Formats: sequence, structure tokens, C-alpha cells
Amino acid sequence: MQNKIQAAITGVGGYVPEYRLTNKELEALVETNDEWIRSRTGVEERRILKGEGKGTSDLGAPAVVELLTKRGIDPMEIDCLICCTVTPDMTFPATANIICDKIGAKNAFSFDLGAACSGFLYGVTMGASLIESGRYKKVVVVGADKMSSIIDYSDRTTCILFGDGAGAVLLEQSHEEGYGVLDSLLKSDGSGAKYLHMKAGGSVKPATMETVAAKEHYVYQEGQAVFKSAVTGMANASYELITRNNLKGEDIAWLVPHQANKRIIDATANRMGISSDKVMLNIQRYGNTTSGTIPLCLWEWENQLKKGDNIVLAAFGGGFTWGATLLKWAYDPK
Ligand code: COA
Repeated sequence: MQNKIQAAITGVGGYVPEYRLTNKELEALVETNDEWIRSRTGVEERRILKGEGKGTSDLGAPAVVELLTKRGIDPMEIDCLICCTVTPDMTFPATANIICDKIGAKNAFSFDLGAACSGFLYGVTMGASLIESGRYKKVVVVGADKMSSIIDYSDRTTCILFGDGAGAVLLEQSHEEGYGVLDSLLKSDGSGAKYLHMKAGGSVKPATMETVAAKEHYVYQEGQAVFKSAVTGMANASYELITRNNLKGEDIAWLVPHQANKRIIDATANRMGISSDKVMLNIQRYGNTTSGTIPLCLWEWENQLKKGDNIVLAAFGGGFTWGATLLKWAYDPK
């Protein structure tokens, strides 16, 4: 019998725009202060993509180009590109199609995946399944969001949280058995939509002068309700995932959590019995970049990852969507 094909992450890229929106600058826009933002969320600054005509594909494309350049891979070799985003360049075509055009990935089929802050987890699971099917050799998953395009900078409960950024990974067949994407536990519950959504601009409430005047094209969030569900959802999924793989907190080399609020991250690490030095944290520099947070962490920590490391990716987001993915890292840093 033929061995099962296992998918593995074999390269990482990332991109954040230059402009830094600091807590100090937000103090001038809304009634808030640096101390409150740091202590309640962990965010100190976020990156913002400036410039007329710039969109999410301008974050995703450089992340993928960096990944391919590092690995010496021609864009024509990509079989499929999945762009996880809630801030597509436009409703259609898919931002994934636009990224492929920008980078010259002419042989790839490509599509967007919308699962809000859990988008990248869903994308990695889908991408890994394509590799495991045996039909595709190279699948790129990019998590990219220009959150600044849907944030109301007069709403202090949301504008402090989000930023722009993108990260990308390459999935290929693992060279060694037991390395790569080992397991995923993904969940969704649409009854959570009422707590975190955008009111207008979809088919239920298309854009009108009134929806624009009522500021209904921005993120709407009931922070406390989301916070409570996120704490339990992310922690429980991560705990269940490692337990069903006969692992304990001490067996995990790195927890890579979605970066929505440092307090949610701390709760997840505690539940899993993972110490803070094993938790990737860049929320202080980038805030919540939605689909971008997890691959941006992998990008920044890539040189510290070792072949054989057990790594748990964990997320919670709009939908609600949530889950966790277990990796056994498949390569050593160069
Ligand atoms: N600056 C200063 N004060 C603020 C503030 C800000 N930016 N935002 C809210 N406040 C105030 C509130 O008005 C409230 O004042 P009151 O007690 O006088 O009414 C007080 O701070 C506490 O507000 P609350 O909403 O209870 O704060 P919180 O501790 O829940 O923190 C969030 C708010 C948004 C940071 C937090 O709920 C959160 O992170 N939620 C989850 C976000 C998330 O994960 N979203 C994405 C999912 S992917």
C-alpha cells in the first residue's frame, strides 16, 4: 500500500507596511491613552498601508515574493494560491487572483478564503489537504488584511486593536514521515455573527448614502462578548488538540496564537500549561492583522524554529470561527 502523503510548511514570508500608528497618535484621534491600550490589549503600535489605490494584494504579493525568493522557487511552479482575508481588494474577483497576476503565478488556480481571524488556520488545513490528495505539489497560503480600510478611527473600542500586514507559507509534500501538518481541529458557529460583523456592503444591505452616513461599512464589535468566547474557544481547542495527540504543554516548543488581545493569549497558554517564553507574541508591534497574525509570527520566529519542534497554531475570530493546528516543524533554519 502506498504511504499517505503528508503536507509540510517548507517556507515562510512576510510583509508589513512602513507607517507606524502609535498609541500616542491614537490619543489625538479618540479619548484613550497609551497605558489603557497597553494594559487592556498589549498593543503599542500597528502598521498602516498608506497610499491611494493600495489594497490587501499590495500586502500579500510582497509576502509571497519574499517567500519564493528565499526558497529560490519560480512563481510559475505554484499550483494553487489561497488568500485568507476579510478585506479583499474588491468583492470580486478574488484577491488571490490579483496576487497571482502581480507575482506572475500564471499556472496557479487561486481563490479567497473568508474565516476572519481563523482564516490562516483554515487555509493551512485546506492547502495541506490539496497536497495530501497527491494532485498538487506546491500550494501557497497567504493571510493578508488591510484592516485600516474597515476601521472607524473615531471608535475607540476598535481602532486601537487592528493593523495591516501579511504573511505567507509554502506547503509541499513532507520529505520525512511524521513531519509537517499533523492535525487540525477547526470549528465555526454563525450565531456569533451578531457580536462581530460589518453591517452593510453585503447582499443583505448593499451600500447606500445612508449606510455610509451611518458608518455601517466598518468593523462592528461587542468586545466583551467576543473576548469571553475567544478565551474559552481558543484555549479549549488548543487543549483538546494536544490532548488527542497525547501531548502535554511541556512537549510543545512554540504556541503561535492569533494576536487579538494579550489577555486572550495568556489564558490559552495557561490552559495548555505553556510558559510565556514559548509563546510567539508580536501584538505589541503589529496589533491584530486578522489573517496575517499567525504567518507573521512564523516569519519573525523562523530562524529560531528547529526541525522536529511541536508547534501549535491557535486562533479565534469573526463568524465565530476558531480552532488549532498541530505542526511538527519540517526544516532547520538556514
Ligand atoms: N481607551 C480607554 N478606555 C476605553 C477604551 C479605550 N480605547 N475602550 C473602552 N474603554 C472603556 C470603556 O468605555 C469602559 O468604560 P466604563 O467602565 O466607564 O464603561 C471600560 O474601558 C471597560 O470597557 P470594556 O469594553 O469592558 O473593556 P475590555 O476590558 O473588555 O476591553 C477590548 C475591550 C475590546 C479590548 C476587549 O473586550 C477585547 O479585546 N475583546 C476581544 C477583541 C477580539 O478578540 N476581537 C477580535 C476577535 S479576532
